[in-house]
Amino acid sequence: MKPLLSCLNGDKPNTPPIWLMRQAGRYLPEYRQLRQQAPNFVEFCFNPEMAAEATLQPIRRFGMDGAILFADILLIPHALGCRVRFMEGVGPVFEPITSADALSQTEEWREIVAPVGETVRRVRAALPAETTLIGFAGAPWTVATYLVEGGTSRDHAKTRAWAFSDPVGFDALIQRLVDTTVDYLAMQVDAGADVVQLFDSWAGALPADGIERWSLAPCVAVATRLRERYPQLPVIVFPRAVGPAAAWYATSGAFAGVGIDSSIPPQWAAETLQPHCVVQGNLDPLVLRAGGEALQNSAQSIQRALQGGRHIFNLGHGVVPDTSLEHVGELVRLIRGEV
Ligand code: CP3
Repeated sequence: MKPLLSCLNGDKPNTPPIWLMRQAGRYLPEYRQLRQQAPNFVEFCFNPEMAAEATLQPIRRFGMDGAILFADILLIPHALGCRVRFMEGVGPVFEPITSADALSQTEEWREIVAPVGETVRRVRAALPAETTLIGFAGAPWTVATYLVEGGTSRDHAKTRAWAFSDPVGFDALIQRLVDTTVDYLAMQVDAGADVVQLFDSWAGALPADGIERWSLAPCVAVATRLRERYPQLPVIVFPRAVGPAAAWYATSGAFAGVGIDSSIPPQWAAETLQPHCVVQGNLDPLVLRAGGEALQNSAQSIQRALQGGRHIFNLGHGVVPDTSLEHVGELVRLIRGEV
């Protein structure tokens, strides 16, 4: 029995299953040690032995209900010929693109990402029977912002300018990313992923009609096409910072779960989203970092607000690097009623 998978499939367990976005990463000393052995972050992600080890590290230490594949949302554009470099203190860097033609038209990307499939197979073989394996990809809009801006940006002005002034040209880029993402996630499912999640981290940068066209519609397209191939596959979407538009994702029928960021009131999510799907979230990562009473109060009030329906406990965004190991352990025990 896998409690996280069963919850997405319709069960309502007494305590919510728990996993954390960015549960593998720099707050773990064993991760920092492993990371030093790779020449750069991309090679780390494409090394199945190392990536499988990074996936398993938080499970060994804390026993979360879900293991998220160790990889990155930017491996897809990288494999499509837009090479990414992860620079210390800066983040990911691309040569900015201005046309969908910048993405390679060949099938070579499949070979480039094949090591990610091997990572999934290794993790699958090593995971405890009760742990759900979560595959993932970036949502087309969020991946597009990195390509158009040339990296992380605050306001995504170039991407929005392109989308608003040349919507048809921009749709071609989104469409290409939809097609590739479907096949990339199918590869992860074939290798043993139980569930997949789409990260739309920058969905909230769009105006409402833009959310509908460039975040919701492409995410629905990816999920629908995947479920044509795998009718039982649960797909979780994480449309960060979209506010009440989160309801569109929940009512679309395409997703088994919707991840909510920390700004969404859990009570609102219980009333508006939970009748339609599982709600995943939404403890503020900085509250986890703070620990103590703030952590206990916040985690319990989220759990209480969502306990009438199906809930997967998670953060509202990723674990921050200077989070203490003790706080993560305490959160897992707290949610399971062990403290
Ligand atoms: O534990 C996990 O969640 C699994 C692995 C994972 C990573 N990135 C590893 C990683 C996942 C699911 C992601 C998703 C991802 N990557 C997102 C969506 C979620 C989010 O945070 O909004 C985004 C936007 C990216 C792009 C990305 N990757 C950025 C902006 C950065 C640099 C930021 C930073 O913290 O330095 C990365 C690098 C990255 N991806 C790291 C990790 C553990 C840190 C790099 C390192 O260890 O050297």
